[in-house]
Amino acid sequence: MIKRVLCIGAGYVGGPTMAIIAKHCPGVEVVVADINPERIGAWRSGTPPIYEPGLEAVVREGLGRNLHFTTEVEAAIANAEMIFVSVNTPTKTYGHGAGRAADLQHVEQTARTILRHARGDVVVVEKSTVPVRTAEAMERIFRSGNGQARFEVLSNPEFLAEGTAVRDLEEPGRVLIGGRETEAGRAAVEALVEVYAHWVPRERILTTNIWSSELSKLVANAFLAQRISSINSVSAVCEQTEADILEVSRAVGADSRIGPLFLRAGVGFGGSCFQKDIQNLVYLCEYYGLEEVARYWDAVVTMNQYQKRRFVRRMITAMFNTLAGKRIAVFGFAFKANTDDIRDSPALEICRDLVNEHAHVCVTDPQALDNARLALVDIDRSVAFELDPYSAAEGAHAIAVLTDWEEYRNLDYARIYASMEKPAFFFDGRNMVDAERLHGIGFNVYSVGRPPHTTL
Ligand code: UDX
Ligand code: UDX
Repeated sequence: MIKRVLCIGAGYVGGPTMAIIAKHCPGVEVVVADINPERIGAWRSGTPPIYEPGLEAVVREGLGRNLHFTTEVEAAIANAEMIFVSVNTPTKTYGHGAGRAADLQHVEQTARTILRHARGDVVVVEKSTVPVRTAEAMERIFRSGNGQARFEVLSNPEFLAEGTAVRDLEEPGRVLIGGRETEAGRAAVEALVEVYAHWVPRERILTTNIWSSELSKLVANAFLAQRISSINSVSAVCEQTEADILEVSRAVGADSRIGPLFLRAGVGFGGSCFQKDIQNLVYLCEYYGLEEVARYWDAVVTMNQYQKRRFVRRMITAMFNTLAGKRIAVFGFAFKANTDDIRDSPALEICRDLVNEHAHVCVTDPQALDNARLALVDIDRSVAFELDPYSAAEGAHAIAVLTDWEEYRNLDYARIYASMEKPAFFFDGRNMVDAERLHGIGFNVYSVGRPPHTTL
């Protein structure tokens, strides 16, 4: 029975995952290590450095018991029996494979640090999403030195979605664990199964070979992103034909073979995973000479880019072909509701395009405003920020909803309308509002994939 668990990387994945393990395994000491002292300081204070509903309570509970945060990565490694690697694996921005391959420098450095400091029998668990066969690279590093430990590498990808991380971790649809098909490999898999079995029914814990596990994470995200690109592609057809994407989604999703989830058209998918993981899959296919397969998945990202550009183009056309000098209130900057995360958020590119059109952009978001400010400072210093959506909309020619925050559904839109320039435009990039009601107030409403409600 494992008693001392360590996670390297206290981010959106590592932090919540370990807090839940600590909660359900009171007999296990859980340490989360990170090289970033500010992040660790925040976790330790009981106010996590990331916004995630329900997380703070679980962390505070764990802090007084078996959950610890530290920057002393090396000492923590020396003491651990099982080490989760949850450092970031962004898309490479330089050199060979730039824009497609995963940047594995943090994973490799972490493996080398583990090799130097680990002792005894250690199970190393890949938590970060990695390209297929990364486990092999880690194994080779572990075999390369005269370290004092024996290592077994497992793949245990995380399927949590941001904004619902706590629920997803508490009641996962499945836990996936991949390991080597050797005696030592099977023992390591069983040790990790035992950790999850504290709260996850055994039948939901799937064990596979290590490469299937690594690949399944990429494929799961690719399938989800593909559904969004599929429905978004259809939204473009709807806008030309007076079909309504909400009705089409409902009709298509009612087929139990297709299912109703992940068929919401919008401004495109964002987040740290979908685009990156598809690019990763594409790179993998190219590496193995599977050109047709690479092009097939690449189209999912192409469609996502097209959707963002199309949204801005529609705004320009609707607003008499110019946005120059017009104030645009951007409602929501996070890549989805209930998170402060803006990685690959559609709002990034849409705001950049609006600024290029010489619009005066004012961003509002209930949680992601600080991150938005940091990201936009490089694009244009003229972008304004308002926590209060009413202030953001004051004097604006248009509102663009880019994040599906629930509160945007029922603001006092009559009050907002009264404070705006006329004609007032409303571009609902998430199909959040009741378009007819807003049209009744006086707005010209453009939803994604739906006939517009205009009076012009
Ligand atoms: C996620 C997933 O884990 C991963 O699958 C995906 O590939 C990228 O995003 P996430 O937790 O969201 O990771 O990333 P992030 O919030 O950036 O956290 C990573 C943490 O690792 C950071 O706090 C960083 O300081 C830390 N880190 C990074 C280390 O502690 N050591 C390193 O060498 C590098
Ligand atoms: C995703 C996967 O869902 C999760 O299993 C994996 O571990 C990490 O990647 P995440 O990116 O956190 O999670 O959020 P998700 O809810 O999947 O949303 C991703 C993006 O798709 C968001 O920008 C969201 O707004 C968008 N989306 C989602 C749509 O545009 N339409 C939909 O119908 C669903």
